[in-house]
Amino acid sequence: MESTKTEMNEAVDNEELNWRVRVFDSLSYPTMILKPDYTLVSANQKFLELFDKTPEEIRGKKCHAFFYNKETPCQAEECPLVKVLQTRKGQTLPWRKKGGWEDRVFSPILDDQGEVAYIIESIRDVTRVKMLESELSGIKELISRVVHSSASPIVAADRQGNIQLMNRAARELLGVADVYERTIHNAEELYPPGKAKEIMTMLRDEKQGGKGKLSGVPTTVVSASGEEIPVEMSAAIIYDDDDKESATMAIYNDLREKLEIEKKLQEARKQLAQSEKMASLGQLAAGVAHEINNPLTGILMYASMILEQLGENNPQHQDVECIIEDVNRCKEIVKSLLVYSRNTDSQRHITEINELVEQSFRLTRDQKIFRNIHIEKQLSDEMMLINVDTNKLNQVIINLVINAADAMDGRGTLTVRTYRDKSARKVYLEISDTGCGIPEENLSRIFDPFFSSKPRDKSTGLGLSIAYGIVEEHEGHISVKHTDPEGTTFLIELPQYIPAEG
Ligand SMILES: Nc1ncnc2c1ncn2[C@@H]1O[C@H](COP(=O)(O)OP(=O)(O)OP(=O)(O)O)[C@@H](O)[C@H]1O
Ligand SMILES: [Mg+2]
Repeated sequence: MESTKTEMNEAVDNEELNWRVRVFDSLSYPTMILKPDYTLVSANQKFLELFDKTPEEIRGKKCHAFFYNKETPCQAEECPLVKVLQTRKGQTLPWRKKGGWEDRVFSPILDDQGEVAYIIESIRDVTRVKMLESELSGIKELISRVVHSSASPIVAADRQGNIQLMNRAARELLGVADVYERTIHNAEELYPPGKAKEIMTMLRDEKQGGKGKLSGVPTTVVSASGEEIPVEMSAAIIYDDDDKESATMAIYNDLREKLEIEKKLQEARKQLAQSEKMASLGQLAAGVAHEINNPLTGILMYASMILEQLGENNPQHQDVECIIEDVNRCKEIVKSLLVYSRNTDSQRHITEINELVEQSFRLTRDQKIFRNIHIEKQLSDEMMLINVDTNKLNQVIINLVINAADAMDGRGTLTVRTYRDKSARKVYLEISDTGCGIPEENLSRIFDPFFSSKPRDKSTGLGLSIAYGIVEEHEGHISVKHTDPEGTTFLIELPQYIPAEG
């Protein structure tokens, strides 16, 4: 009875096997059928060709014997067939063959009870795919190396703005220590608030460099420490095959150095224009002063004679006194103009700059205007010698100090600072106040003779122009280092005197 049942089962098995064999015989992959007990049932034509076997040489063999010449099955954990039996799901075993690669694909054929009745093993040559994959990964590796070693900072983000790539130059620019310890995670954090959105709008605008492209746009990025860095940016949207936005990338060019150079160049141009203006004004002033000096001496002489002739009680006595007073004022102005135009003699002495500063402050000390001003001296301990006309330099310092006191309306802090730049052989003197500052529109005029914002009867507007003339005469330079409504700092630089050795 038992044996009849088995025979019947086998008949069914064989019938089923017949059509399965016909189907898989026509498959272009070398394929064979196994039983769960590792027995090879059949193999298709391709398989027989590949292994150069006849169906008889295959049938009934155990797979471990056929493939590995072994008497016992392979280790269960290494055997894909065992896995198929356990999981009832297909398994793939990558296989290195001579001159290439293949995938051995194991697929279960389940019986009515859902148990694995047979296993189809087909061999797929994946050499070409693997070669392409390795070529592609080689290209990917190359692109990645090119991007990472690029001297230009490059950042790429996905559609949500999450930063996916930040090359070394970008990390240096943004002060990000390590790729994995990034403090900047999203493109929004790369720019000042609202800027990332603005850039995306520009990128999508066809009129601005074409759709999805931007080139050489000046903007600002924010470093990990919050510093705003001016950059020039070229950016692009990366589209996928369906023309949908999949990522964005940007390349930056750090503009800090360029802007710094431009600023210095502008400063130098301004200085040049200023000194050209001062030189021609100086010539004019010298000419005028010279021409006026002689007639003034005449007026003064004749007015003094008239005054002597008029008695004290004469009603015109006071008028003539006014004439003399005004002529004297004019003579003072002429004298100042001559100083400004460097048309006066100089008496130079080698002096220590701190000593000169102390001297100038002693001369102003008793003036009423300094009563409520706190004076702070930050004088360098270093020995800083200068070769100057001390009287003229005193005049410069006093004028700066009085200007500072005027700007503070007699109340505030006046700081005087000295220092030097040893390698440049320069000595510096700074006078700062906490006054009202110099409005932008006046900055280019304050060194002009007769420019003043103070009441006419009080000032001539010659102070700074004289100071300018004196400092230039000493091969130095005077400038406004800083000014805003909180105060002003004037800077004088002079050549340091270095005694000859020996
Ligand atoms: N420390 C300062 N703070 C603000 N403004 C200043 C300062 N120093 C100079 N100025 C401006 O520059 C102008 C020119 O200064 P300058 O010393 O040449 O003339 P003045 O002080 O007006 O007149 P003078 O020096 O002849 O009495 C001033 O009137 C003032 O407007
Ligand atoms: Mg002045």
